[in-house]
Amino acid sequence: MAAVERKLITARMDQPGYSNRLESYLAAGGYAGLKKALAMKPEEIRAEVMNSGLRGRGGAGFDCGLKWSLVDRKSGKPVYLICNADESEPGTFKDKQIIYKDPHALIEGMVCAAYANGVKTAYIYIRGEFAEGCKILLAAIEEARAKNFVGTNILGSGYSLDIFVHRGAGAYICGEETGLIESLEGKRAYPRFKPPYFPAVFGLWMCPTIVNNVETLCNIPLIVAMGGAEFAKIGTPNNTGTRIMCVSGHVNKPGYYEVELGRITMGELITGLCGGVAGGRKARAIIPGGSSAKVMRCDERFKGRKRDGTEYDWGWQDVPVDFDSVAMIGSMAGSGGVIVLDETADLPKALANIAEFYAHESCGQCTPCREGSLWMAKALRRMTNGRATKGDTDYLKSIADNIPGRTICPFGEACSWPVQSFIEKFRDDFAKLEK
Ligand SMILES: Cc1cc2nc3c(=O)[nH]c(=O)nc-3n(C[C@H](O)[C@H](O)[C@H](O)COP(=O)(O)O)c2cc1C
Ligand code: SF4
Repeated sequence: MAAVERKLITARMDQPGYSNRLESYLAAGGYAGLKKALAMKPEEIRAEVMNSGLRGRGGAGFDCGLKWSLVDRKSGKPVYLICNADESEPGTFKDKQIIYKDPHALIEGMVCAAYANGVKTAYIYIRGEFAEGCKILLAAIEEARAKNFVGTNILGSGYSLDIFVHRGAGAYICGEETGLIESLEGKRAYPRFKPPYFPAVFGLWMCPTIVNNVETLCNIPLIVAMGGAEFAKIGTPNNTGTRIMCVSGHVNKPGYYEVELGRITMGELITGLCGGVAGGRKARAIIPGGSSAKVMRCDERFKGRKRDGTEYDWGWQDVPVDFDSVAMIGSMAGSGGVIVLDETADLPKALANIAEFYAHESCGQCTPCREGSLWMAKALRRMTNGRATKGDTDYLKSIADNIPGRTICPFGEACSWPVQSFIEKFRDDFAKLEK
C-alpha cells in the first residue's frame, strides 16, 4: 500500500485558498473545540487529555496529561502556560509552518489548555529569527480578541485569558524549558537545575508553569472535539495521534509530512512520501529526531524484543515512525526532524557542522559542556581540514563520553550523542583521516 499522510493538524493549512486569517479558520470549523471546551469543567478536559495518551511533540515525548497533572495547583500562586515556539533543533521546521500558515490552530489550542489548567496569563515564546511569525501571531491574537476567543469573559463563559508573544534573541538553549523561562523573565537563558526547578512547581516567576510545544498544543482542540478515547485510537498504543515529520537532506521531496504515529515506517516516509533518496542513490545514514539524535546506520539490522514480548528484526526501512520504535533502535524520535545522508555524504564533515553548532550554542554554565563541545568542534575542524593526527578519533570519542550526566541540562547529551554515534557507527570514516 502506498504511504499516505494522515492530516489532522495540517489538514487546513495546505488547502488552496486557505489563509492564516481568522475567516479561513472559522470557515474550516475553527474554534469549535474551544466552544466545546468552555462548556466542560477544566478537570474534564484534563481527564480527556490524560486518556488521549498525547505525548509532547517538543522533543522528550513526555505525556501531556501527566505533565498537566503535576502542576502544583495548591500553592495559591498563579499557573502560567508557555508555548515553546523556539523550534531551535536543526532539522525541525514544523512549528514554524503552523505559525505561518495556521496561527489560530495554536491560539485555540492555547486557550483550551489554559482554561483546562486555570491559567489567566499565557505566553508564546517565539524564536527571535521568526520575526514574520511573531507578526502573524500578534495579528491573529488581535483577530481572536476582537471575536472574544481571547481576552475577558471569553464567549460569555466567565473565563478570561491574556496571551502575550515574546521574541527570543535566537539561541538554541532558549528552547530548553528552564532556559526559556529565565529568558522570558528577562535574564540570560541559563537552564535551571532540576530538581528543584521543575516548571510544574517552580516555573515562571517561581510559579507553577506548563511548557508545551506548538504542535502539542494544536492537538488539544482535536482531543476536546473527539474525546480522549477516540484520539487514542489514532496511531498506536503509547504513540497516539499524528506527528508532523520534517524530512531534509538527500531526499527527492524534502518537507513536512503529517503521519499517524507507528502506522508508517521510515522506509514509507522516505521512499514513499519523500520520493526516495535523491539521484536514486542509497541512504547511508539517517538522523531520526533532529541533529542531537543518535545517527542510524542504513546497512545495520536492528534486533530486539518489543514491550509485548515479540521479537523484531528491522532494516532501517522497517522502523516504525513513532517514539518507542526509534528509542528501541538506540536513538530518539526527538523533535521529529529526519535528516537523510546518502552514500556520497562526507560524514565527518556533516558531524563537524553539527558539532560547530553545539559549540556555538552551549550556554557556558557547565564546564564539561562549555569546554567539551568546543574541543569536539575544534578536533573535527582539524580532522576535516586534513590535520588529523593519530588517535584523534579516540580523543573525540573520549570527550563525548565524558560530558553526559555531568551537566545542568540535557544539552550535554545533545552535543555528545551525535559525536558518540557517528564514531560508533562510522569509525572508519574518521580513522582514515588520521595520519
Ligand atoms: C537543548 C534543548 C533544546 C530544546 N529546544 C526545544 C525547542 O526548540 N522547542 C520545543 O518545543 N522544545 C524544546 N526542547 C524541549 C523543552 O525543554 C520542553 O521539554 C518542551 O518544550 C516541552 O513541550 P512538550 O511536552 O509539549 O514536548 C528543548 C530541550 C533541550 C534540552
Ligand atoms: S549543559 Fe550546556 S547548555 Fe546546558 S546548562 Fe550546562 S553549559 Fe548550559
